[in-house]
Amino acid sequence: MDLATSYLGLSLPSPFIVGSSPLCDDVNVARKLEDCGAAAVTMRSLFEEQLTGERPPASRGAGYAGEGEAQFPEFADYQFSPDQYLRQVGRLKRSLTIPVIASLNSRQAGTWIGFARRLEEAGADAIELNCYHVITDPAAAADEAETEMLEAAGALAASVSLPIAVKLSPFHASVAQLAIALELAGAAGIVVFNRFYQPDVDIDELKIHPVLRLSDSGELLLRLRWLAILSPHLRCSLAVTGGVHTAADAVKALLTGADALQLVSVLLRHGPHALGTLRQGLEHWMREHRFAGVGEFRGRLNLRNCHDPAALERANYLRVLQSWSE
Ligand SMILES: Cc1cc2nc3c(=O)[nH]c(=O)nc-3n(C[C@H](O)[C@H](O)[C@H](O)COP(=O)(O)O)c2cc1C
Repeated sequence: MDLATSYLGLSLPSPFIVGSSPLCDDVNVARKLEDCGAAAVTMRSLFEEQLTGERPPASRGAGYAGEGEAQFPEFADYQFSPDQYLRQVGRLKRSLTIPVIASLNSRQAGTWIGFARRLEEAGADAIELNCYHVITDPAAAADEAETEMLEAAGALAASVSLPIAVKLSPFHASVAQLAIALELAGAAGIVVFNRFYQPDVDIDELKIHPVLRLSDSGELLLRLRWLAILSPHLRCSLAVTGGVHTAADAVKALLTGADALQLVSVLLRHGPHALGTLRQGLEHWMREHRFAGVGEFRGRLNLRNCHDPAALERANYLRVLQSWSE
């Protein structure tokens, strides 16, 4: 059974890779993940604010509390300083044989981009750029954030010879056009989708408080739809992050066009051995459906290849509403 895939120009023995998270903070854990079948690992993100020593600029629009006024952690509270991060890249490279993907979090081009060269020198095999951004400023035009993202991705890609993946949010008016523009700007891959951790309201303390809940398979559906829509249009790689928990989830993401499957919650919940369960389940499904390689069915159900494209479009909304019966 051939599970081999190509992601960001890297040849991987299987599509299962570890998504950006604290799972690679400890080299022993990373080695265990490799032993259990991870085809690549993605490190936690290093934030632009850590590299520039600046807080984000205060948002415009008087009276609106944008991210500029938000409470960022003190630098000492970040898990890795930039130097520690570089040392961790080196440690992971010495301990693992699989590719190590570094992760940077920024929403606009800036001096932080110079750090990418140091990641390359430290041995990183690729960089994932996470453009997490919540626009609270009503004076900000819709396309401003996207222009900034494109500039950041383009400048990052131009600064190194490493492949760059961009981790996207689903909250863009035209996700497909943005993904194509990112590819044209130099991205070697698109990762769908950033998972937004929505703050909750504490009704006793009358406070907003952050909540981190691990995902479940239900979150995959949004990603499947967009994998299916994006995959016919992109020549660069596509990875999914968010909601891959079972072998069936993996099969669905591959059928809709993913080249790589990022795993975080399932590994945090069940440990590195979940990788073996997923791999066996995928192989079992491939055997049952007489597929010898992943390439034989990847994208079979994308917007171009599926028998019913309307199921992915507006008509689906109507059909779903009509299908309700008590
Ligand atoms: C504890 C934790 C830490 C994470 N840290 C990062 C991070 O530093 N950078 C990033 O881009 N994503 C981070 N993520 C998001 C994951 O990479 C992933 O996109 C998300 O968990 C959805 O995938 P999953 O359903 O497999 O968990 C983190 C997730 C968790 C649970």
